[in-house]
Parts: sequence; structure tokens; C-alpha cells
Amino acid sequence: MPITEQLKNKIERFANLPTLPQVATRLIGMINNPLTSASDVAFIVGQDLSLSAKMLRLANSAFYGIPRSITSIGNAVVILGLKVINTMVLSLTVFDMFPEDKRSAALFNRKAFWIHSLSCGLIAKFLTTRIRKVVLFDPEEAFCAGLLHDIGKVVMEQYLHEEFHQALDYALLNRFPIFEAENSQLGYSHTDIAEWLTESWSLPAEIRLSLIHHHNPAGSIQSQDIITLIHLADWLCYETGMVIDGDYQPPQLQESCIKMLKLLPRDIDTVKEILPEELDKTSIFYNVAREKH
Ligand SMILES: [Fe+2]
Ligand SMILES: [Fe+2]
Repeated sequence: MPITEQLKNKIERFANLPTLPQVATRLIGMINNPLTSASDVAFIVGQDLSLSAKMLRLANSAFYGIPRSITSIGNAVVILGLKVINTMVLSLTVFDMFPEDKRSAALFNRKAFWIHSLSCGLIAKFLTTRIRKVVLFDPEEAFCAGLLHDIGKVVMEQYLHEEFHQALDYALLNRFPIFEAENSQLGYSHTDIAEWLTESWSLPAEIRLSLIHHHNPAGSIQSQDIITLIHLADWLCYETGMVIDGDYQPPQLQESCIKMLKLLPRDIDTVKEILPEELDKTSIFYNVAREKH
């Protein structure tokens, strides 16, 4: 359901939505400019020392598995490429925007939330390489879309705490998927919040529309492939136990999505096989992102 002005006003009274830090916004603006050089990126990223340090740790970790050591951001851009650097900046800054909150581990575990988000990103990135049709996005965009797909939930947890917990209680009690409980109890869901949150983030449409429509891929006429992929990756997280909390009902899978993406049943089996390794990667990413400097 599109978020209405009335609803925006209502939520605005409670929540002051955070804006994306400048370093990420500037980098998103530069990514599609063919004149952008490694030193331009190093200059922008270098202004944030904590971010640069985390990026170097991540670049040298088993998450990327690069056999040689990466000693500077300029070096990282050359070796990993601008798209990967952009993903790192976007992911690490979003982690920073939502620090740990001890209020509500019982109903919404923040660490489990990020592991679910990272898993969804990694599954989406992997499946992108298996899609047997021409698509308009690349594995890095799929990773970002997966990582950010439920970002509205963490916003609700932090800024609309009471309402969100009312919906979570309802979901547990009535065995509803969280998305449906939010809509039935509050009249809006985390996808509406994500739409509003990212209005000024200048994210590529492919990523933003995945955040808004991942529970109903048919709801968008644009970017159907990536939205469908995130819908599938989210469901696969539930299938494989990489969920915020196993007590919540999984979202309903739209069966046609595997066919629509020209994936084969063996691709889904492979996701399940590579899962232990991918789980290690999610912890590496999480630990680096949560490091204090
Ligand atoms: Fe969701
Ligand atoms: Fe999800």
C-alpha cells in the first residue's frame, strides 16, 4: 500500500527519519560516471577514518577472499572495482545509522535482523549468477537490495517502537507473517517505511523498488526481475533458518518466481549447500560493521 500524506504526518510526529551520510550519497552519485577515478573515491572515503578502516578490514577478510593484501582504499578500488566499493560504503554506513538497541531483544533481535539481511543479500548475489535470462542489474546491486530489503523494520524498531512491537505481538499470537501483521494492526508496513526513508537517498531504482515491493513483486511494473529475486531470497532465508526469529510465520512464496527468473531447482539446492560458508561470511561482515573505533 502506498504511504499516504496522512500516514506520513502521523508517523512524522513520532519519528525523525535518519538521512544517509554524505559519503554514501556522494559515492552513489559518482558510481555511474565513467570519469570517476580510484583517487576520487579514495578522497571521498578517506574523509571518514572509521569507515576507511572498516573497509580495509573487510577488503582483506575472507568475505571477499582476495589472496593479496589490500593496503589502501585506492588499492581496494582497483582490485575490487567501484561497484563493490560502493556496496561496502552503503552497507557499512547503513549499519552505523542503526546502532544496537538493547530494549527489545525478546521480540526483535537486532543481530539476528542483520544476519538475516546479510544472508538475503548473499543469496540474491549468488542467484544472480544463475539467472538464465538477461537482467538489468548486477550481483552487487542484488546484494545491496537483499541487505537493505527489510530496513523499514529496523527504522520501526528504533523510531516507532511501540507500534512495531504491537504488530510483532500480533504476528506471534495469530501466526501471521510480520508484513501482514503490520498492515492489519497499523495500516502500514516496513515496506512503506522503506519507501519513505529512501526517498532522498538517490538509490538506483532497482534497489529501491526491491525494498518497497519484495512482499508483492507484482505490485511494481518496473524492475520486476530484481524484486522477484529478493522475494525469493527472503523466502529462502526462512527455508534455511536464516531468519530474524524462527517463531514468526514465513512470508508466502509466489511460486512462479523461480520460473520467471529462469532458475532451476538445482540452483535452489546449491543455495542450501553453500549456506554454511555463506553463514561464516555474514558473521565476518557483521563483526567488521559493528566494530568500534
Ligand atoms: Fe520484508
Ligand atoms: Fe526479510
